[in-house]
Amino acid sequence: APAGPLTGRRVLVTSGPTHEPIDPVRYIANRSSGKQGHAIADALARLGAEVTLVTGPVALPDPPGVRVVAVESARDMLEACRAALPVDAAVFAAAVADWRVAASADQKLKKQPGAETMTLDLAQNPDILATISGLTEGRPALVVGFAAETERVVEHARDKRARKGCDWIVANDVSAAAGTFGGDANTVHLIAGSEDVDSWPPLSKAEVAERLAHRIAATLGSAAS
Ligand code: C5P
Repeated sequence: APAGPLTGRRVLVTSGPTHEPIDPVRYIANRSSGKQGHAIADALARLGAEVTLVTGPVALPDPPGVRVVAVESARDMLEACRAALPVDAAVFAAAVADWRVAASADQKLKKQPGAETMTLDLAQNPDILATISGLTEGRPALVVGFAAETERVVEHARDKRARKGCDWIVANDVSAAAGTFGGDANTVHLIAGSEDVDSWPPLSKAEVAERLAHRIAATLGSAAS
């Protein structure tokens, strides 16, 4: 990484969706593109940070100068995050599936003759953001989560910040009008404390990433002597 305000700082970023296996050929997923998370990893690396990007399956190039760990399921993502510690800061931008198939099949599931319906039992996935925020040993000094909301964006994000135990929440307006999903623009509010809310104008995902990276740099300072 080039020298910059984050030289000597280690940062973990998660990005993309997770894929939760049903059987060897099928999975449950979501529409996350990974654009925002990858842009954040890229922006942090440009400021000199040593970045580990733990990403679910995406159709994006690896950001230059970033250590990329590719995973599929939420449980694999949590393990890769734990393995990336210790870090000074962690940014959880992945769209982690809330549910996985409780007992995924070892062989391809077959249609059952005569059966008009079929049921999958789901089990709750670990909450990676809440897990890392709650570490008593090795908790990153700064933990940043995302909150995608369609209404009362700041209020819901404030609640989420408290519930998850993270330091900051980047609240994302994903109402249809904001056009965030799969698009290049993002309207966000940075909630850095219950009374510390910064509303940013509509920006490209690259600009959101750059602003966030600079704010992280201002908060952590440099570890370089
Ligand atoms: O609860 P919700 O999914 O709305 O919270 C979003 C935030 O929590 C994001 O930062 C996301 O990366 C993180 N998250 C996580 N693990 C989960 C669910 C969400 O890290 N299982």
